[in-house]
Amino acid sequence: MMFRRRSSPRVADILLVKSGGEAKLGDWQRWFADFAPGLDVRWWHDATVDPHAVRYVLVWEPEAGRLAGMPNLEVIFSSAAGVDHITRDPTWPAHLPLIRMGTDEIAQRMGEYVCLGALGLLRGIKRILVNQAAGTWEYFETEYSATDLRAGVMGMGNLGQRSAAMLRGLGFQTAGWSTTRKILDGVESFAGAGEFDAFLARTDILVCLLPDTPATSGVINAASIARLPPGAAVINAGRGSHVVLPDLIAALDSGHLSGAMLDVFTPEPYPAGEPAWAHPRIIVTPHLAAFGSRREKARYVAAAIAAYGRGETLPNRYDAARGY
Ligand code: NDP
Ligand code: OXD
Repeated sequence: MMFRRRSSPRVADILLVKSGGEAKLGDWQRWFADFAPGLDVRWWHDATVDPHAVRYVLVWEPEAGRLAGMPNLEVIFSSAAGVDHITRDPTWPAHLPLIRMGTDEIAQRMGEYVCLGALGLLRGIKRILVNQAAGTWEYFETEYSATDLRAGVMGMGNLGQRSAAMLRGLGFQTAGWSTTRKILDGVESFAGAGEFDAFLARTDILVCLLPDTPATSGVINAASIARLPPGAAVINAGRGSHVVLPDLIAALDSGHLSGAMLDVFTPEPYPAGEPAWAHPRIIVTPHLAAFGSRREKARYVAAAIAAYGRGETLPNRYDAARGY
């Protein structure tokens, strides 16, 4: 699908930014000056900007109704790979291209996080750190190597495919599950609801990198967890909505699951006193699995704006029919 500018190029197109807070605006302006010198980059709450003059936005969690108030907006860039923080506003201008963040850097960093989690769960890192905090020297034996275990990645998009390749590189027997079948070197592919149970049955380390959609909400629940082999572990870096947390905790307490690493929660920040914080088998990380630099995000957005100006297809466009 081609998207063409509605009008001829203007002297300085305005990009409003809401990502990282106002203190980071200078960083954004420096990087965009390198990658898109003609762009006028302003802070989201800059009172001197006429909403009619805004052509592009780069946002994380825009306030409901705000995008609808920019009548000449042409492209919405999500500063995150997920776009649920935009589409949950019922007034968001759904006729416009909404572009997911898709830098190589976030794919690499997510792969690193997933590998960290898989090896950490394999080697009992939570137990080691808890023991260290208590000053306890507890020797314990490691039962498996990566090559003994089967990793399964739910969601085989930009992030899932890289993570699967990196897990495979560590020696895990790796498979992926997605809507459509993938052909990837050394990674078994399962597709669609009909192959979900078979995917779960062969998965010792379950990794969730799905988008947040009605179809994926609560996908890690008592029934799906029960289909994993005894002793399996879970890594969730998709969205908090993917895990029914009481079901996960019950499976850890019963011993059916051996551990979990969770990066995403509903709500965020994950409130103090909630059960995952103190659980002996859960590693909690504060939504940092695939933090992307402003440099690479600016490079990506600048390239997309240039491509848009040439009337080219923009990659990573949100598709309302699929929900991601
Ligand atoms: P993509 O859109 O590239 O990939 C999504 C994948 O999920 C695709 O493989 C798609 O299948 C699959 N999928 C979607 N719905 C279903 C379903 N119902 N059943 C099976 N498979 C499904 O997204 P990204 O890889 O860029 O990002 C994935 C998610 O990771 C984001 O939406 C976000 O929630 C999360 N994320 C978390 C971060 C963190 O720091 N914790 C950072 C960045 C992202 P198909 O390929 O067949 O279409
Ligand atoms: C996300 C991100 O979608 O950080 O969570 O990119």
